[in-house]
Amino acid sequence: MSATAGDGMFTRHPELPNLIVTRHPLLRHKVTLLRRQDTSKKIFKELVDEIAMLLAYEVTSDLGTESVSVETPLETTTGEIVRGQQLTLVPILRAGLGMVDGVLNLIPTMRVGHIGLQRDHDTLEPIDYYFKIPLPLEESVFIVADPMLATGGSASAAVSYLKKSGARTIRMMCIVSAPEGVRRMLEDHPDVPVYTAALDRELNGLGYILPGLGDAGDRLFGTE
Ligand code: PRP
Ligand code: URA
Repeated sequence: MSATAGDGMFTRHPELPNLIVTRHPLLRHKVTLLRRQDTSKKIFKELVDEIAMLLAYEVTSDLGTESVSVETPLETTTGEIVRGQQLTLVPILRAGLGMVDGVLNLIPTMRVGHIGLQRDHDTLEPIDYYFKIPLPLEESVFIVADPMLATGGSASAAVSYLKKSGARTIRMMCIVSAPEGVRRMLEDHPDVPVYTAALDRELNGLGYILPGLGDAGDRLFGTE
Protein backbone atom coordinates (compact mmCIF):
# COMPACT_ATOMS: atom_id res chain seq x y z
CA MET A 1 0.00 0.00 0.00
CA SER A 2 1.45 3.36 -1.00
CA ALA A 3 2.38 5.70 1.79
CA THR A 4 3.03 9.41 1.95
CA ALA A 5 5.31 10.95 4.52
CA GLY A 6 3.63 12.74 7.39
CA ASP A 7 5.51 15.30 9.42
CA GLY A 8 8.55 13.01 9.71
CA MET A 9 7.31 11.13 12.78
CA PHE A 10 4.22 9.65 11.10
CA THR A 11 3.31 7.97 7.83
CA ARG A 12 -0.16 8.66 6.40
CA HIS A 13 -1.96 6.65 3.71
CA PRO A 14 -4.33 8.55 1.40
CA GLU A 15 -6.80 5.61 1.31
CA LEU A 16 -6.73 5.18 5.11
CA PRO A 17 -7.20 8.67 6.56
CA ASN A 18 -7.97 7.20 10.01
CA LEU A 19 -4.51 5.61 10.29
CA ILE A 20 -1.41 7.08 11.92
CA VAL A 21 1.68 4.87 11.54
CA THR A 22 4.31 6.05 13.99
CA ARG A 23 7.81 6.08 12.57
CA HIS A 24 10.00 6.50 15.63
CA PRO A 25 13.19 4.45 15.05
CA LEU A 26 12.92 2.83 18.49
CA LEU A 27 9.42 1.62 17.70
CA ARG A 28 10.51 0.11 14.40
CA HIS A 29 13.46 -1.57 16.11
CA LYS A 30 11.33 -3.05 18.89
CA VAL A 31 8.61 -4.27 16.50
CA THR A 32 11.30 -6.09 14.52
CA LEU A 33 12.43 -7.90 17.67
CA LEU A 34 8.81 -8.67 18.56
CA ARG A 35 8.21 -10.35 15.20
CA ARG A 36 11.10 -12.79 15.57
CA GLN A 37 9.82 -16.29 16.26
CA ASP A 38 12.79 -16.96 18.59
CA THR A 39 11.91 -14.02 20.88
CA SER A 40 11.22 -15.54 24.30
CA LYS A 41 7.97 -15.05 26.22
CA LYS A 42 9.78 -12.82 28.76
CA ILE A 43 11.32 -10.54 26.12
CA PHE A 44 8.05 -10.53 24.14
CA LYS A 45 6.19 -9.14 27.18
CA GLU A 46 8.91 -6.54 27.86
CA LEU A 47 8.83 -5.40 24.23
CA VAL A 48 5.02 -5.15 24.23
CA ASP A 49 5.22 -2.90 27.32
CA GLU A 50 7.94 -0.72 25.81
CA ILE A 51 6.10 -0.39 22.49
CA ALA A 52 2.84 0.38 24.32
CA MET A 53 4.58 3.16 26.24
CA LEU A 54 6.02 4.70 23.07
CA LEU A 55 2.66 4.43 21.29
CA ALA A 56 0.86 6.01 24.25
CA TYR A 57 3.29 8.93 24.04
CA GLU A 58 2.14 9.52 20.44
CA VAL A 59 -1.56 8.87 21.11
CA THR A 60 -1.60 11.50 23.86
CA SER A 61 0.52 14.11 22.07
CA ASP A 62 -2.42 16.50 21.51
CA LEU A 63 -4.02 16.25 24.96
CA GLY A 64 -5.07 19.51 26.56
CA THR A 65 -3.22 20.75 29.64
CA GLU A 66 -4.25 22.92 32.58
CA SER A 67 -2.19 25.74 34.03
CA VAL A 68 -1.27 25.30 37.69
CA SER A 69 0.81 27.24 40.15
CA VAL A 70 3.98 25.45 41.25
CA GLU A 71 6.49 26.28 44.00
CA THR A 72 10.07 25.65 42.95
CA PRO A 73 12.77 25.86 45.64
CA LEU A 74 13.36 29.44 44.43
CA GLU A 75 9.99 30.98 43.50
CA THR A 76 6.42 30.45 42.39
CA THR A 77 5.84 29.84 38.70
CA THR A 78 3.16 28.49 36.40
CA GLY A 79 3.28 24.93 35.08
CA GLU A 80 0.99 22.71 33.05
CA ILE A 81 -0.57 19.38 33.95
CA VAL A 82 -2.58 16.72 32.18
CA ARG A 83 -5.50 15.39 34.20
CA GLY A 84 -4.66 11.67 34.07
CA GLN A 85 -7.96 10.71 35.70
CA GLN A 86 -9.74 11.90 32.56
CA LEU A 87 -7.92 9.29 30.51
CA THR A 88 -9.15 5.71 30.43
CA LEU A 89 -7.17 2.84 28.99
CA VAL A 90 -9.29 -0.04 27.69
CA PRO A 91 -7.30 -3.18 26.88
CA ILE A 92 -9.17 -5.79 24.84
CA LEU A 93 -8.71 -9.09 26.70
CA ARG A 94 -6.59 -11.04 26.62
CA ALA A 95 -3.71 -9.75 24.54
CA GLY A 96 -4.45 -6.07 25.27
CA LEU A 97 -3.61 -6.76 28.92
CA GLY A 98 0.02 -7.08 27.85
CA MET A 99 0.07 -3.35 27.00
CA VAL A 100 -1.31 -2.04 30.31
CA ASP A 101 1.87 -1.86 32.42
CA GLY A 102 3.74 0.02 29.69
CA VAL A 103 1.02 2.67 29.38
CA LEU A 104 0.61 3.01 33.17
CA ASN A 105 4.36 3.54 33.54
CA LEU A 106 3.90 6.65 31.43
CA ILE A 107 0.52 7.80 32.85
CA PRO A 108 0.10 6.23 36.32
CA THR A 109 -3.15 8.06 37.12
CA MET A 110 -4.93 6.71 34.08
CA ARG A 111 -8.04 4.65 34.82
CA VAL A 112 -8.35 1.18 33.31
CA GLY A 113 -11.50 -0.51 31.96
CA HIS A 114 -11.66 -3.97 30.42
CA ILE A 115 -13.47 -5.45 27.45
CA GLY A 116 -13.31 -9.24 27.00
CA LEU A 117 -13.58 -10.42 23.39
CA GLN A 118 -12.54 -13.76 21.92
CA ARG A 119 -12.32 -14.19 18.18
CA ASP A 120 -14.12 -17.32 17.01
CA HIS A 121 -11.51 -19.36 15.13
CA ASP A 122 -13.93 -20.41 12.36
CA THR A 123 -16.06 -17.33 11.73
CA LEU A 124 -13.41 -14.79 12.93
CA GLU A 125 -16.32 -12.94 14.59
CA PRO A 126 -15.66 -11.58 18.11
CA ILE A 127 -17.61 -13.14 21.02
CA ASP A 128 -17.95 -10.87 24.05
CA TYR A 129 -17.50 -12.16 27.61
CA TYR A 130 -16.65 -9.16 29.82
CA PHE A 131 -17.32 -5.40 29.99
CA LYS A 132 -16.29 -3.22 32.93
CA ILE A 133 -15.53 0.46 32.36
CA PRO A 134 -15.01 3.15 35.04
CA LEU A 135 -17.74 5.84 35.19
CA PRO A 136 -18.50 8.52 34.16
CA LEU A 137 -17.77 7.81 30.51
CA GLU A 138 -18.82 11.08 28.89
CA GLU A 139 -15.86 13.22 29.97
CA SER A 140 -13.07 10.70 29.50
CA VAL A 141 -10.70 10.21 26.58
CA PHE A 142 -10.61 6.44 25.90
CA ILE A 143 -7.59 4.67 24.50
CA VAL A 144 -8.50 1.16 23.35
CA ALA A 145 -5.42 -1.09 23.29
CA ASP A 146 -4.86 -4.35 21.44
CA PRO A 147 -1.56 -5.56 19.98
CA MET A 148 -3.26 -6.88 16.81
CA LEU A 149 -5.79 -5.31 14.42
CA ALA A 150 -6.57 -8.10 11.96
CA THR A 151 -10.12 -8.21 10.46
CA GLY A 152 -10.99 -5.32 12.77
CA GLY A 153 -13.99 -7.22 14.18
CA SER A 154 -12.75 -7.09 17.79
CA ALA A 155 -11.69 -3.44 17.68
CA SER A 156 -14.93 -2.36 16.01
CA ALA A 157 -17.05 -4.28 18.54
CA ALA A 158 -15.07 -2.81 21.48
CA VAL A 159 -15.55 0.73 20.19
CA SER A 160 -19.28 0.08 19.58
CA TYR A 161 -19.71 -1.11 23.20
CA LEU A 162 -17.96 2.01 24.48
CA LYS A 163 -20.06 4.33 22.33
CA LYS A 164 -23.29 2.57 23.38
CA SER A 165 -22.29 3.13 26.99
CA GLY A 166 -21.78 6.85 26.43
CA ALA A 167 -18.11 7.27 25.48
CA ARG A 168 -17.56 10.23 23.16
CA THR A 169 -13.81 10.48 22.54
CA ILE A 170 -12.07 7.23 21.58
CA ARG A 171 -8.66 6.42 20.09
CA MET A 172 -7.34 3.02 19.09
CA MET A 173 -3.77 1.85 19.69
CA CYS A 174 -2.39 -1.32 18.04
CA ILE A 175 1.11 -2.64 17.56
CA VAL A 176 0.59 -4.44 14.23
CA SER A 177 -2.33 -3.67 11.90
CA ALA A 178 -3.63 -5.21 8.69
CA PRO A 179 -5.12 -2.98 5.97
CA GLU A 180 -8.36 -5.01 6.23
CA GLY A 181 -8.78 -4.06 9.91
CA VAL A 182 -7.97 -0.40 9.39
CA ARG A 183 -10.55 -0.28 6.55
CA ARG A 184 -13.17 -1.93 8.76
CA MET A 185 -12.51 0.72 11.45
CA LEU A 186 -12.78 3.48 8.85
CA GLU A 187 -16.17 2.12 7.71
CA ASP A 188 -17.59 1.46 11.19
CA HIS A 189 -15.94 4.24 13.24
CA PRO A 190 -14.46 6.96 11.02
CA ASP A 191 -14.23 9.25 14.07
CA VAL A 192 -11.73 6.96 15.84
CA PRO A 193 -8.06 7.46 14.87
CA VAL A 194 -6.00 4.27 14.76
CA TYR A 195 -2.39 4.59 15.94
CA THR A 196 -0.12 1.73 15.00
CA ALA A 197 3.56 0.87 15.03
CA ALA A 198 3.34 -1.18 11.81
CA LEU A 199 0.96 -1.53 8.87
CA ASP A 200 1.47 -5.05 7.51
CA ARG A 201 0.65 -6.49 4.09
CA GLU A 202 -2.52 -8.60 4.45
CA LEU A 203 -4.40 -11.35 6.26
CA ASN A 204 -3.95 -15.02 5.44
CA GLY A 205 -6.86 -17.44 5.01
CA LEU A 206 -7.04 -18.04 8.77
CA GLY A 207 -7.21 -14.34 9.60
CA TYR A 208 -3.59 -14.02 10.74
CA ILE A 209 -1.64 -10.90 9.86
CA LEU A 210 1.22 -11.32 7.34
CA PRO A 211 4.07 -10.97 8.06
CA GLY A 212 2.72 -10.29 11.57
CA LEU A 213 4.07 -11.87 14.72
CA GLY A 214 1.79 -14.85 15.20
CA ASP A 215 -0.81 -15.08 17.95
CA ALA A 216 -0.10 -12.22 20.35
CA GLY A 217 -2.17 -13.68 23.22
CA ASP A 218 -0.48 -17.06 23.00
CA ARG A 219 2.99 -15.50 22.87
CA LEU A 220 2.23 -13.26 25.86
CA PHE A 221 0.65 -15.91 28.05
CA GLY A 222 2.38 -19.09 26.88
CA THR A 223 -0.81 -20.76 25.61
CA GLU A 224 -1.23 -22.56 22.28
C1 PRP B 1 -6.65 -11.43 18.96
C2 PRP B 1 -6.09 -10.03 19.13
C3 PRP B 1 -7.29 -9.17 18.84
C4 PRP B 1 -8.00 -9.96 17.77
C5 PRP B 1 -7.70 -9.35 16.44
O1 PRP B 1 -7.35 -11.80 20.08
O2 PRP B 1 -5.54 -9.78 20.39
O3 PRP B 1 -8.14 -8.96 19.95
O4 PRP B 1 -7.47 -11.29 17.82
O5 PRP B 1 -8.41 -9.98 15.44
P1 PRP B 1 -9.60 -9.28 14.65
O6 PRP B 1 -9.10 -7.91 14.28
O7 PRP B 1 -9.78 -10.16 13.46
O8 PRP B 1 -10.80 -9.24 15.53
P2 PRP B 1 -8.05 -13.26 20.25
O9 PRP B 1 -9.48 -13.17 19.83
O10 PRP B 1 -7.21 -14.29 19.59
O11 PRP B 1 -8.08 -13.44 21.79
P3 PRP B 1 -6.89 -13.44 22.87
O12 PRP B 1 -6.41 -12.01 23.02
O13 PRP B 1 -7.57 -13.94 24.09
O14 PRP B 1 -5.79 -14.35 22.39
N1 URA C 1 -4.69 -12.12 16.37
C1 URA C 1 -3.38 -12.36 16.60
O1 URA C 1 -2.97 -12.52 17.76
N2 URA C 1 -2.55 -12.42 15.55
C2 URA C 1 -2.96 -12.24 14.27
O2 URA C 1 -2.12 -12.29 13.35
C3 URA C 1 -4.33 -11.99 14.05
C4 URA C 1 -5.17 -11.93 15.12
